[in-house]
Amino acid sequence: MADLKELIQSADWKTEKHVPAIDAPEKAKKGIATKIVISVGKEIAHPNTTEHHIRWIEVYFLAAGEKFAIQLGKFDFTSHGEAAQGPNTSTIFTLPEVVVAFKTDKAGTILASSYCNIHGLWQSSKAIGVE
Ligand code: FE2
Repeated sequence: MADLKELIQSADWKTEKHVPAIDAPEKAKKGIATKIVISVGKEIAHPNTTEHHIRWIEVYFLAAGEKFAIQLGKFDFTSHGEAAQGPNTSTIFTLPEVVVAFKTDKAGTILASSYCNIHGLWQSSKAIGVE
């Protein structure tokens, strides 16, 4: 029997185009919104065609010492060139990049997952402090 966590792949986002890149400051300021950017294909572009594309990104925050992660957002990318004239004809493509603003008084870890419609699930994480 398969286990979902065994199907979520991980790698360095600089060498593997499916891994979400997390751009975040080293430290969040307590009580003030921190903006982070999550993107797929930052270093090596991922294909974005009707047949092959990134469907979604999810972003979580795990506060230090906590057992459960908090979901910060889930983002669907729903335009990949499809149109009435056929695949890859619309010229309209959603890019797999999102900005998330959140507040925390606790240090922790930002976790991101992404889903490629033909290469499955991927993840990455980045620690963030507070000041
Ligand atoms: Fe892919």
